[in-house]
Amino acid sequence: MYDINDELILAYKVIQRDVFKLIEFLYRYEKQYKKLNEEKRKEYYYELRENYNLQRFNIDYNKYSENWIPRVAQTIFLNKTCFNGLFRFNSKGGFNSPMGRYKNPKILDEPNLLNVSKLLEIATIKKADFKEVKNDIKNNSFVYFDPPYRPISKTSSFTSYSKFNFLDDEQLQLASLFYELDQQGHKLMLSNSDPKNTDPDDDFFETIYANYNIIRVDAKRSINSNANKRNSIKEIVVTNY
Ligand SMILES: C[S@@+](CC[C@H](N)C(=O)[O-])C[C@H]1O[C@@H](n2cnc3c(N)ncnc32)[C@H](O)[C@@H]1O
Repeated sequence: MYDINDELILAYKVIQRDVFKLIEFLYRYEKQYKKLNEEKRKEYYYELRENYNLQRFNIDYNKYSENWIPRVAQTIFLNKTCFNGLFRFNSKGGFNSPMGRYKNPKILDEPNLLNVSKLLEIATIKKADFKEVKNDIKNNSFVYFDPPYRPISKTSSFTSYSKFNFLDDEQLQLASLFYELDQQGHKLMLSNSDPKNTDPDDDFFETIYANYNIIRVDAKRSINSNANKRNSIKEIVVTNY
């Protein structure tokens, strides 16, 4: 599994190696947070977020250590309590999503964490640019690409989960990697947003994945500030098989 986002990689590695300790931390966060009133929750959230942003300078992202565990618990806490689950960082690398308004957020989802941990048992988890996949891939692999969504409207410019932008140029580079891996005989799948949700004439993906199958599927987008639009959105799935 490859991703460019340090915090996500930390999270997957901790879930892989130390899920029980992680669960303990999350249990405590859930208990502490849920007994607070709205005012106090706000203080708790913003204090934790500030501390989280300061602490990142004390983390060695390259070497597994015990202090990754509380860090990941904080990442999950913030993700579960922030506005719309938006895992967003500013250009300097600070987490900047505001607090969400959930009455009863599920901060600890134990069965899910245990399942993910089991699935990750044999995974190689690596912080890397997607282009590096081609250096490490074994013969006849199945590769699933889950890149940042291409924004479907001018207002939904959410392409940046990290300080790295993912614009049309990067979508094109990814398409050319898809082509290269296809030529090598791998089985490939890629998902993305569907520009036709807002502009039926937008053939961006039809053009760059012209040799492949594109199907449209209903997607429940949880990251959408407009609650009415949450259920009615399509996404695309591209395959070479
Ligand atoms: C739609 S999300 C997929 C998240 C992931 N599948 C998950 O839920 O664990 C897109 C991901 O692409 C990652 N990303 C952005 N630019 C990248 C790049 N150049 N190389 C690799 N990953 C990148 C982001 O960090 C983000 O996590």
